Amino acid sequence: MAPKKKKGIGPGVQVWVKDKAIYGTDLYGKAEVQSIDEKQQVTVVTSNGEKTQELVLPFEECHQPHPGENVPDHCQLMFLSPPTLLENTRARYMEDKIHTLVGSILVVVNPFRRIPGIYDEAMMLQCINKKLYNAGCGPHKFAMAEQSYAAMKKQRNNQCIVVSGESGAGKTETNRQLMRYLIWRGNRDKTNAEDTLTQKIMDTNPILEAFGNAKTTRNNNSSRFGRYCLVRFGDTCDVVGAQVRVFLLERSRVTSTSKAKERAYHVMYELVAGKTKHTKALPPESFYYINLSGTMDCPGRNDADEYRNTASALLSGVGLSADEADQMWAGLAGMMWLGNIDFGTADTATVNAKGADDPIRVAEKLLGVGDMEKLLTTRAITVNGEVTFAKHSVPNACAARDALVKIMYARLFSWLVVRINQTVDDVKRAKHYIGLLDVYGFEYGFEFFEVNSFEQLCINFANEKLQQFFLSTVFENEGKAYKEEGIAWTPIAYQDNKQIIDLCENATGGIFKLLDSACKAPNATGKAFCSGLHEAHGKKSAAVFGAPKMGKAEKRGKEDHFLVKHFAGEVIYFAGDEKEPGFLEKNNDSLAKEVEAHLLESNKPIVRSLYETCASPSPKRKVAVASRRHSPRLRPSANKFVKSLRDLMTELQSSQAWFVRCIKSNPQLKPLLMNGESVIDQLRMSGTLDAVRLIQGGYPTRIPYEAVHSRYAKLLSDVPGVDMKSLTPAEFCEAIAEACGVNKDEYSLGTTRMFFKMGAAAFLEELAEADPEEMKPKLMEMFALFEAKRRAKPMMEKTVAMWLHRRRYEALLPQIRKEQHASKEKAEKAYARHMEEARKKEEEERRRREQEERC
Ligand SMILES: Nc1ncnc2c1ncn2[C@@H]1O[C@H](COP(=O)(O)OP(=O)(O)O)[C@@H](O)[C@H]1O
Ligand SMILES: [Mg+2]
Repeated sequence: MAPKKKKGIGPGVQVWVKDKAIYGTDLYGKAEVQSIDEKQQVTVVTSNGEKTQELVLPFEECHQPHPGENVPDHCQLMFLSPPTLLENTRARYMEDKIHTLVGSILVVVNPFRRIPGIYDEAMMLQCINKKLYNAGCGPHKFAMAEQSYAAMKKQRNNQCIVVSGESGAGKTETNRQLMRYLIWRGNRDKTNAEDTLTQKIMDTNPILEAFGNAKTTRNNNSSRFGRYCLVRFGDTCDVVGAQVRVFLLERSRVTSTSKAKERAYHVMYELVAGKTKHTKALPPESFYYINLSGTMDCPGRNDADEYRNTASALLSGVGLSADEADQMWAGLAGMMWLGNIDFGTADTATVNAKGADDPIRVAEKLLGVGDMEKLLTTRAITVNGEVTFAKHSVPNACAARDALVKIMYARLFSWLVVRINQTVDDVKRAKHYIGLLDVYGFEYGFEFFEVNSFEQLCINFANEKLQQFFLSTVFENEGKAYKEEGIAWTPIAYQDNKQIIDLCENATGGIFKLLDSACKAPNATGKAFCSGLHEAHGKKSAAVFGAPKMGKAEKRGKEDHFLVKHFAGEVIYFAGDEKEPGFLEKNNDSLAKEVEAHLLESNKPIVRSLYETCASPSPKRKVAVASRRHSPRLRPSANKFVKSLRDLMTELQSSQAWFVRCIKSNPQLKPLLMNGESVIDQLRMSGTLDAVRLIQGGYPTRIPYEAVHSRYAKLLSDVPGVDMKSLTPAEFCEAIAEACGVNKDEYSLGTTRMFFKMGAAAFLEELAEADPEEMKPKLMEMFALFEAKRRAKPMMEKTVAMWLHRRRYEALLPQIRKEQHASKEKAEKAYARHMEEARKKEEEERRRREQEERC
């Protein structure tokens, strides 16, 4: 339904208005209009029961409420505005309806509690062969999965479902349910479904989450990596395998999680809770890396139970042998023991190992390598071809050790993914796939003590790219489709983010490019990199780039900080300084050659394999390299990341895309609570509000003429009263649309397709897919009815004209009555005035006569 103008606003009418002082985090509340002045300023009274105040607002800031019940598609809202969108979301959320559509986009609100039955098989059954909008259970993730599955089956092409939203909005949970449905659906018609394969595919979730998820203040199970999972289908659209791809694991979480109420990766706590020999059954407080934040527990997670689950999934799901699994756990424990090494308190780092139980000795044993002391406490310097060793200071030794652990962990994670894919992927039998994308949400540490660094920029950049993909798919392609089909199109304004993407990834002068150059320059520093950025973009990209504003609470200066105005908000990044590592150090994906060489000599095959794929030198060269002992050359990880994102985008563009926008109901992670301000922000930033506007104003459903004509033209040759044979495909479809009662203003005719307003083409869509023979009687009935109506038209027109006349008269009646009343009043007043005047005259006459008589 097209959005209506705000005609009905007037005194006594209830409207939505924004008043944070009264409505708090609800932001909007209903208020009664008192008056509207000639400058279109509206006076309303807002109240929250305790406080009441009068507010004068511009007319545009008063929004008409949606009349009636909540609607399953936001596009059905009678009056679109941020508060009506919020109200519909809230009303549905309170009824446990967490899914709402925006055309073919699905919006899901995180309920932060298990809603009984919501993911049962009964729900799945209600989605089979149903469209997104007519699933028996209403809008649902399963219906979205069904839609992509049906499209893949029909078009025989690849599909992708892009799930986005901020941290804690429910992306990973949504992905899990989408995957569950797709696997269930793909195996439904199979008598000998490969239960073990499907179980293995589902097992990839807990494994990846154990190694790649962590407790943060925003989400107790926050994914710290991006994941694109392809569910592969064979000839008969049955599940034949899966492939997992991962992006940019947040490495600093392994060694430097010091923020209160946050934890390092779940698996590190699981390993300790598992009380294995590798951790000597010590409590978690004994391990420096996981003790840094002081938070050991994660609500809703029992680390000892999870250890058992992960350990068994590694054997069954990933297919590791018992020995491999043991080496893997030993390797992980080795990294945690490295964190416990004490480098002393002197000016230069030393390790005073006291026997076999000293952390360095335990770590060496677990990693299967020889003495690591020299590697960790010195660095090689080459002067005039001569190599000397300089002792590290204690902080530098800690930093070098942490860098080693971070890279080892990241490689272990990648190795695990390779092994998972070896177990669950089957390219040979695969024909098509449905890709499920779960990329970490936009991140912004907005408190002044929170540091946003290289990893946050990468995460936010990934979100920018996804937002651009969403906008181009939904908005730009929309314009193109109208143009191609010769249909008039009024573009809808939306928040574009091209400038920010350019700022980050431009081949010349983009932030990542400048970072790359800075890393290659000798003696580069974070400050130099930062000043280069301000120089290049301070003026040129002022709309999206800048320096933090300095104030009393804000101490972040331009020399080592910069600001990016992302689509989801402004973020201040710390480039790095003498004391704290920043972009340059974090952009380093390589270890010093001597460290790599040392680890390559491990007697543990798994430890070796982490380096074999990354360290290229042959054994002979290895020795040569080791003896040359170069200091580390930076291998920038941003390049790899930007490239992998580009590849991902190309892949997404080559498949049919569906979008799920996850919304976090409240930052407290509580059930039945909705923070209106934050929900509106998310709906606006995610482009959802603009998308509703776009769909309401356009023709979102398209049906190719041929899809209907080729199936029904012959069948309907005997329709009475209409010569169907003589009609072109377009005319044929129009005749059917008219027979189905679709109004003329609800469709538009393109060159190859018919464009419909939202919800107007349900019957035609069914026709395009149903069995023509089955549909024929229904159609004949409709045409008969249509023909009867056509014949009755002159008669009906007469009746309608009379009816309209009466309606108009009825509509005018109050006015006529008012006017009649007014004229009656006027006449009565005039009569009263006349009587009064006559009385006065009579009185005067009488007085005059009396006076004359007296005289
Ligand atoms: N549909 C849902 N029903 C119940 N709980 C949910 C649902 N979606 C998310 N959650 C819970 O909310 C938390 C955050 O969800 P998650 O999917 O991890 O968010 P994200 O991946 O967007 O950061 C999780 O603990 C999860 O259990
Ligand atoms: Mg997640």
